[in-house]
Amino acid sequence: MEEDILICYCNEVYKSTIVQAIKEKNLKTVEEVGQETGAGEVCGQCQDDIQVLLDQVQAES
Ligand code: FES
Repeated sequence: MEEDILICYCNEVYKSTIVQAIKEKNLKTVEEVGQETGAGEVCGQCQDDIQVLLDQVQAES
């Protein structure tokens, strides 16, 4: 299994949490991920990583 990585240091949100939220709630934007998980809502530095995860999940489906 792929290792889990910490994406958002400010709110301690892990990759698995974000990917799961994207899949379950069909999230499309960094803003929606922020509303669901809290990731990206403090310093914003992880927002590029969140976008990469969004692209990955969308490419899979
Ligand atoms: S690391 Fe995600 S908002 Fe700061």
